[in-house]
Amino acid sequence: MQIIDGKAIAATIKKEIAQQVEQILAAGGKRPHLAAILVGHDGGSETYVANKVRACEECGFTSTLIRYEEDVTEAELLAKVEELNNDADVDGFIVQLPLPRHIDEQKVTEAIDYRKDVDGFHPVNAGRLSIGLPCFLSATPNGIMELLRRYNIDTKGKKCVVLGRSNIVGKPVASLMMQKQIPGDATVTVCHSHTANIAEECRNADIIIAALGQPHFVKEDMVKEGAVIIDVGTTRVPDATRKSGFRLCGDVDYDNVAPKCSFITPVPGGVGPMTIVSLMKNTLLAATHQIY
Ligand code: GUN
Repeated sequence: MQIIDGKAIAATIKKEIAQQVEQILAAGGKRPHLAAILVGHDGGSETYVANKVRACEECGFTSTLIRYEEDVTEAELLAKVEELNNDADVDGFIVQLPLPRHIDEQKVTEAIDYRKDVDGFHPVNAGRLSIGLPCFLSATPNGIMELLRRYNIDTKGKKCVVLGRSNIVGKPVASLMMQKQIPGDATVTVCHSHTANIAEECRNADIIIAALGQPHFVKEDMVKEGAVIIDVGTTRVPDATRKSGFRLCGDVDYDNVAPKCSFITPVPGGVGPMTIVSLMKNTLLAATHQIY
């Protein structure tokens, strides 16, 4: 069994990106610039955005954090999105989700210029992904594909079960895994809350990508000997022994599942660090106009 070290791969990729930024600057180019809009004080969102800002520093990017209180109006937010769309210095930007209930997330997402949508959430990017055109790939699926690539994990003709059908992870990663490319070329089954026999589907899988957000959902008896397990879960569970009062819990019962696997991602330190690196890659692609 091999543990997939997302933290180490992410550190390597950040160094690669920083080197490319040095080359751009040496050639007289502009420093890539990522902006992030954060609304309110949700603990998870605060952490994610702080990590994104830190990753920008590590990569040599400029970053701008725009904060609003919980009571910001949709109109104010849309006006800021429009401003960032038109700001020639900003190469890409994100609006951290979730947004407060009085704001229509879809409306805000669609207001972002798809050419600056480094999250890959805009329907233009989601649609282009589904038909295999160049686009900004959403961060978590992109990070997963990079892990499979860097660990030379064979996906061609393999049975891949994706647990979860979210627009951010399940659907795009299923799309990538079935695409005519390496990694990809897999036979993909997407399971969700109405799937008849998830355990049986999992037992048939060579690769399981678990993105349900249900701690320890994937148990030892659901996993075939030698399977590849990618755990996207990051549920916060209370833990009085931690300073923060919580720990991150994956969708896979790691301790019992790991001994059966050929490869497995830990939580934390697996997919998580790759997600942020994917956002950095998209920002570099935006800055260098490699997609649009
Ligand atoms: N909330 C949870 N994950 C993400 C992400 O990747 N991007 C944004 N914008 N919000 C999120």
